[in-house]
Amino acid sequence: MTEPIKWVEKDRSAKNVFWPTEEMKRHAWVADEAIYEQAAADPEGFWAKQAEEISWIKRWGKTYQFEPHNYKWFVGGKLNISFNSLDRHIEAGKGDKIALIWEPEPTETEVIKLTYTELHREVCKFANVLKGLGVKKGDRVGIYLPMIPEAVVAMQACARIGAPHSVVFSAFSPESLRDRLIDAGAKILITADGYFRRTKKIDLKRNADAGVEGTDVEKVIVVNRLGDGAQMTADRDLWYHELMADASDHCLPEEMDSEDLLFILYTSGTTGKPKGVVHTTGGYAVQAAITTKWNFNLHDDDVFWCTADVGWITGHTYVNYGPLMNGSTSVIYEGSPDAPDYGRMWAIIAKHKVTALYTAPTAIRMCVKWGDQWPAKHNLSSLRILGTVGEPINLDAWLWYFEKIGGGRCPIIDTWWQTETGANMINSLPGIGPFMPTIAGRPFPGINAQILEVGGKMQLPPGEGGYLAIGGPLPPALLRGVYRDPERFKDQYFSEYGPEYYFTGDGARKDEPGNVRITGRVDDVMNVAGHRLATAEVESALAQNDKVSEVAVVSRPHDLKGEVPVAFVLLKVGADHSDEIRKELIKTVDSVIGPTARPDEIVFVDNVPKTRSGKIMRRLLKSLVRNEPLGDTSTLVNPECVDELKGLTSYKG
Ligand code: WT7
Repeated sequence: MTEPIKWVEKDRSAKNVFWPTEEMKRHAWVADEAIYEQAAADPEGFWAKQAEEISWIKRWGKTYQFEPHNYKWFVGGKLNISFNSLDRHIEAGKGDKIALIWEPEPTETEVIKLTYTELHREVCKFANVLKGLGVKKGDRVGIYLPMIPEAVVAMQACARIGAPHSVVFSAFSPESLRDRLIDAGAKILITADGYFRRTKKIDLKRNADAGVEGTDVEKVIVVNRLGDGAQMTADRDLWYHELMADASDHCLPEEMDSEDLLFILYTSGTTGKPKGVVHTTGGYAVQAAITTKWNFNLHDDDVFWCTADVGWITGHTYVNYGPLMNGSTSVIYEGSPDAPDYGRMWAIIAKHKVTALYTAPTAIRMCVKWGDQWPAKHNLSSLRILGTVGEPINLDAWLWYFEKIGGGRCPIIDTWWQTETGANMINSLPGIGPFMPTIAGRPFPGINAQILEVGGKMQLPPGEGGYLAIGGPLPPALLRGVYRDPERFKDQYFSEYGPEYYFTGDGARKDEPGNVRITGRVDDVMNVAGHRLATAEVESALAQNDKVSEVAVVSRPHDLKGEVPVAFVLLKVGADHSDEIRKELIKTVDSVIGPTARPDEIVFVDNVPKTRSGKIMRRLLKSLVRNEPLGDTSTLVNPECVDELKGLTSYKG
């Protein structure tokens, strides 16, 4: 059983409202609530102060400059994010500190630990390799790599020479790779022969070969991860290790303007075509660094493990740039959490004495399903902070994470943000709290997040649901454009509320002190018999039934009620797909929200379609239950489940 929790006196009686321990408050970078007011009174001053925490080659002039659809931070400032990630720490005498710990999936393969000095050397060498192949500042470089140290080396090397990277998730199909390489106009691709996933060897090179067909890629650099001898195309393919053998380890960082392009990252939008989210250097660096430091309370003795793949924004910001800019130790794991058994995550934490774990609710729910015995086998006492990201976390998963993983001592930092925002935007700070299941928390200091009415621009009072929008000054790390598509940039983000507000596409509401509950994408909001209801609310209700492992709810048109929810339910092992359980689930919904929220249909499934950031692709389920065309499914991690789902629902349109 959990130790009694020592939370401070505030609201001790309130159920499921948690506060930092005295120890956490002492240890935290920020423990004084006044930070919010101070930052709100002078947000530009707040961000300028944070910017002083990193190194600049030339100090900026104006802190923030706004014109419609064109906003700049740290105007005229010059810096290099790779210098900030590496050289700076070495100059400060931290060269021998471990920067990266790589945990391969096969347990018999040796762990790799790279110190800051060693990582710096690899990055400089690879930067010279790229230069040697003709890559210049501004040239886009494609990266299609698994979770191996070279992924971080490649991103850092690109940043060092000012060549924007476009990382494509290694499990994406050749078609997705091709579209992204073409859109970015990449002439170089960095890939690997393969990697291990769920104890199997995955042939990445084959996908890379298919993906570069029909693109402008001239050279393909191949990391020798498996060592089985990949098929190399003459005059095009080059082995990474051969190029590195001759490369000089001297490479001065390129002087980058604050608003120079740092990277492009593709993400799905409302249309079928993915959009290239554009991030620039200065503002991104500052917000990435400070959110990593404050939210995960990183000190010199911390070991940070963000489980996200480098193919996602979370991997960019919280595996690579954020932890390294803080001179921290970042863990990367190659494989799957169930290899060789369901306890792998917990084994890694015990082995490397991880102090901060950052993962997704979907991963947590999977672990809940696998059972308590797995974490119980490992010593998790090194953990101090837990984080989640990607979707609202339901009460049960939150409490399980808190008790079984955090031992009731570790605050859970529920971070709301997006590929577009580049870095965390809304979350409770570990030394301030409160930590409340299903509620992300307050906007990070200096972030002006508002709940606006639908169809107007009025800021809504506490308790009222509206759209989440971010007002000025627009956040330092916010995207600066959609690559080669300025119209889409304006339409998608600045048409709902005009150029002064970034429109997030999420619904939300605040409580009296300003804590934000995300209710889900606004395209998932239903109107059931005149009641405004988020699909996420029905999901959260169903998830409270202890037989439910995972649930996705989408809306479907209904003759009488306008719209009704349809629930896709994945039951825990041992529960059978029976009408009895269906009735029980309806009862749960009745008791949590009320009969209006009752699903019109409950479909039992073995799998739900997911993107690699762990989000259920509800858009697809919505199309399925409405018998509509399914659209782009290229970002799914498990496309095979779509066929299983067809024909499971009763709607005949
Ligand atoms: C969308 C952004 C940002 C990294 C991972 C996903 C949802 C994200 C939370 C959270 C509730 C969340 C939102 C957002 N989301 N974090 N803590 N609580 N919802 O990045 O693929 O760009 O997705 O994920 O709906 O708009 P992404």
